[in-house]
Amino acid sequence: MRFWISIFLTAACLVSSFDIHPGFAEDTIDRVRHNLIQSAEKSWELGTAAEALTELYWPTLSVFHKKAFPPLLSAKVNATDVLSIANATISAKPADSMSLIPNQGSAGDPASIGVAVLLANWTQGNRLNDRYSKAAADQLKYLLNNVPKSESGAISHRTDETQLWADFVYMAPPFIAYYGVLQGNADGRALMQIAYDQCKLYRDALRDESGLWKHVVLGTWQDNEHWATGNAWAAAGMLRVHQTLNHSSQAHHFATQQSDLIQWIDEILKASWSHQNYQQTEDGGLRNVIDGPKSYLDTSSTTLMTSVTYRMAAIRDTAEFIPAANRALGLIQRKIDTQGWLQDATNPYTFDQPLSNGEHSPEGQAFILLLHAAWKGLAETKKHSHVPPV
Ligand SMILES: *[C@@H]1O[C@H](CO)[C@@H](O)[C@H](O)[C@H]1NC(C)=O
Ligand SMILES: *[C@@H]1O[C@H](CO)[C@@H](O)[C@H](O)[C@H]1NC(C)=O
Ligand SMILES: *[C@@H]1O[C@H](CO)[C@@H](O)[C@H](O)[C@H]1NC(C)=O
Ligand SMILES: *[C@@H]1O[C@H](CO)[C@@H](O)[C@H](O)[C@H]1NC(C)=O
Repeated sequence: MRFWISIFLTAACLVSSFDIHPGFAEDTIDRVRHNLIQSAEKSWELGTAAEALTELYWPTLSVFHKKAFPPLLSAKVNATDVLSIANATISAKPADSMSLIPNQGSAGDPASIGVAVLLANWTQGNRLNDRYSKAAADQLKYLLNNVPKSESGAISHRTDETQLWADFVYMAPPFIAYYGVLQGNADGRALMQIAYDQCKLYRDALRDESGLWKHVVLGTWQDNEHWATGNAWAAAGMLRVHQTLNHSSQAHHFATQQSDLIQWIDEILKASWSHQNYQQTEDGGLRNVIDGPKSYLDTSSTTLMTSVTYRMAAIRDTAEFIPAANRALGLIQRKIDTQGWLQDATNPYTFDQPLSNGEHSPEGQAFILLLHAAWKGLAETKKHSHVPPV
């Protein structure tokens, strides 16, 4: 039997209370995780899988945790699944590739695995083993020095031309910020600033007056539509950068940057949820093109956006988008089949058509774990409440 959970948060003199929808059954999550590990192959799928596993199973190592820095392993917190993604990546990397995975066409995507590689470096017993450190350093140098940049200084998401994709914000800035916090001092601070700057430059280039972000600008082709997954990648990436800065010992140098990031995430949430249930066809979902009247339900972006919404509710002590997130969570639960696959996800490789029968979205699988981690994080805030539930 699952219960609705009432959350009470206290902040200064304000008390907000709200109900969150019942969470996922653990056996559903086990199947979702199994399918994620089986299906994740592309660089960004592996990077997103590593992040999702960290947030859900090893929360003290995730940037959402107050004590994320420095990351510490123990017998119980061994992060074996995350470290094995880092090890497999490094083991397969050719010596002459600066990118963690070579020949991807994408400059940003392979960097998504960088957080797991840094985690492996900083937590390994053998301090003499520099293969993780070197691989992470090469990946960083590649992004900063080798990849083309726009006139404004935004690092391209592609290797062969300058082209900005909303996806980049989840792939590279969280890695650059994490690298910076671990380095510490002035050098680390400079990287933390670059992570923020890249979010800002991407927003400047992609956001329009709707409050939503276009998918792809510059280069030989563009996608000016408000792709829901692109908006969710951007919001979720900025949220990880915020939390990385926020939990660093140098957080006090980044107060205005942090409040900008919160405002930019909020802007995406507000604009996105205002289109929930467009045409009333599917209760609670977002469309693949958020404001596209002819677009179709996409459970994948809906899942990531819901995850960001629950995280933001805990961070900001606000119930503003909780009703929208609750309806979305109810829909997502109905859309996970008995085998543990998310149904009605968009095709993550073409962006503009639903998956066919029997096809799956590895990133959609990861988003469910991210959502469950966010839901648990919010539910746990109840424990720290001074207000008894009624
Ligand atoms: C890693 O941690 C998990 C969960 O705490 C535990 O079940 C498992 O035995 C540990 N594995 C190793 C190799 O220590
Ligand atoms: C790392 O990966 C290599 C190559 O797949 C494997 O031989 C090795 O056992 C792995 N090491 C660890 C610690 O998992
Ligand atoms: C890897 O870890 C060592 C500490 O063991 C640290 O000195 C080094 O800077 C780290 N490398 C990176 C790229 O963070
Ligand atoms: C962390 O973020 C919260 C929420 O935005 C903010 O109130 C707090 O001041 C930040 N902490 C630091 C140390 O910057």
